Amino acid sequence: MGLSQQSSHFAIAIDGPAASGKSTIAKHLARRLGLVMVNSGAMYRAVTWKVLSLGIDPDDRDAIVHALRAMDIQCGTAGNFSTIAIDGRLLDEELRGTEVNLAVSRVAAAPEVRALLVQLQRDYLQHTSLVMEGRDICSIVFPDTPYKIYVDASEDVRAARRSAEGVTDSVAARDRADSNRTTAPLIVADGAIVLDNSDHTVASAVEAALDILRSQGLSHEDSGDT
Ligand code: C5P
Repeated sequence: MGLSQQSSHFAIAIDGPAASGKSTIAKHLARRLGLVMVNSGAMYRAVTWKVLSLGIDPDDRDAIVHALRAMDIQCGTAGNFSTIAIDGRLLDEELRGTEVNLAVSRVAAAPEVRALLVQLQRDYLQHTSLVMEGRDICSIVFPDTPYKIYVDASEDVRAARRSAEGVTDSVAARDRADSNRTTAPLIVADGAIVLDNSDHTVASAVEAALDILRSQGLSHEDSGDT
């Protein structure tokens, strides 16, 4: 039995490639359903930011593991959102920079990094019901939750979204790395339903996600807030 069935709390798991719109959908779902939205990518980005700020090569696994042991990683919430602090520094804007974009998939491929962060992700469920988005939430973090969505969008749409945000991010390269790594690659997990977000508006994507969740048995009250 997985964690999602051990507590009274439940998890909605959302996976998908970079810039597919999964964070936006997760954010709106959390608001509509009164849940906490946990951005697991921010956790990988935070460790990456710390690794880079220590001057460690993102491909140097031994140095990363060594540094990881000394990191004080604090996961929390502020309102309906997850927060992350490392060694007392609350991290936010700095996680979206180009350097982190370029290095994060390499750091996230380290099994030791994943083991630690997966545990911290599961710990959230001890405190609250949640919507968590990432790459392995349906397959590894909460494999037993019935509520699983894989958000996809065409590569063109995803690249355009990132450049409209003014961010340099090779989404195709990150997706290749995330899909081809040995540990916890991005996949459409068993039980996940694919939501193609190439042509949706935000509002219609959220409705489509709610339809999927209802079809998976979710009866949680919808506040109707958008
Ligand atoms: O979701 P976001 O694009 O911010 O994720 C940044 C990176 O973190 C991904 O490209 C991936 O390498 C890693 N990640 C992961 N597993 C997750 C979430 C993110 O490996 N559950």
